[in-house]
Amino acid sequence: MDTDTIFPVIQSAWYIAAPSSRLASGPLSCRVLSHDIVLFRDAAGTAHALLDRCCHRGVRLSLGAVSGDRLACAYHGWEYDGQGCCVHIPSLTQGAQPGQRARVRSFPCVEQDAYLWVWTGAEASPAPPARIEPMDAFLWQQGTLPMQCAATVGIENNLDWCHPVFAHPWTHGQFFHNQMAGFTEHAYETRLIDTGMVLFGPATENESEPIPETSWFKARFDLPDRLTLELGAGQRIIIILHLVPTGPHTCRLEWLNSIMPSSTPLAGVRVRWSEEEPTVLVQDRLLIESAQRAYDGEGVEFENSVGADTSTLLARRIIALAAQGRWPSARGTLPHRRVVPVRA
Ligand code: FES
Ligand SMILES: [Fe+2]
Repeated sequence: MDTDTIFPVIQSAWYIAAPSSRLASGPLSCRVLSHDIVLFRDAAGTAHALLDRCCHRGVRLSLGAVSGDRLACAYHGWEYDGQGCCVHIPSLTQGAQPGQRARVRSFPCVEQDAYLWVWTGAEASPAPPARIEPMDAFLWQQGTLPMQCAATVGIENNLDWCHPVFAHPWTHGQFFHNQMAGFTEHAYETRLIDTGMVLFGPATENESEPIPETSWFKARFDLPDRLTLELGAGQRIIIILHLVPTGPHTCRLEWLNSIMPSSTPLAGVRVRWSEEEPTVLVQDRLLIESAQRAYDGEGVEFENSVGADTSTLLARRIIALAAQGRWPSARGTLPHRRVVPVRA
């Protein structure tokens, strides 16, 4: 079964193309949804995003080189500007100009919050990407991780209240709590927001209580693919994940891990790049990539769900509605608040 029909993909949205620090002087290839994209910086340092396919003979433009404001193809040297127009063809004789059709698609590209964002939707983007709200308050570690699973599977994983005790030995607070206190019965809570949902625990007494500032654990999901995880009620640790769809069966995890509050001086470096794959992320990746193979083979009909899965099924529903262009207009069709008793 086509995974795209199991886990619909939101097409019209800003997605991360790459961390800012990965784009230096040369071109950089990346994949967003089903688009192969090449990023490059012009002479002023402004980033541009073009289809990574030369309009002459189809060679990847990311194999080429940047010169001034132009990206030159490695095969016959055709040169493109930041809008994707071919502005120079070396083999043309004196006075001849590139034709009108000599161009590649360009994508709106914004550099913000240590990332390069692209818009690949058919219609114009309505506004810049949503800011990463805690960005200015911390210093961060940043990394990228390709994953062999649909973005929705990764999003559900991070909204799954009862998995850490089993999936995250020695890397997750819930595991340590379980080691000390054993399994306890408690309740988590979900609430809808206009951009998605929030999951936290322990649950509040009633709906009039605001979402607590601090919880044992709080996860906010903002469409199309952002998770903001807050751990520890006292010392705040924030993990920000974007699960960028790179195809119906694959995604790219862009992660940010708060190191310390940004009032701490660190020579202007706010984001430190890491090649490492944190253990807690490996633990999830191996499990959900194995699940993806089951979804690819059988669809979702084999699944059985229990009450604890309320949060993940809710996220799946929100994404499906958003993919149909029905979020937040259809928000009222889902329960605003759910209190879910679990043993974890
Ligand atoms: S294929 Fe790119 S210049 Fe010929
Ligand atoms: Fe996990």
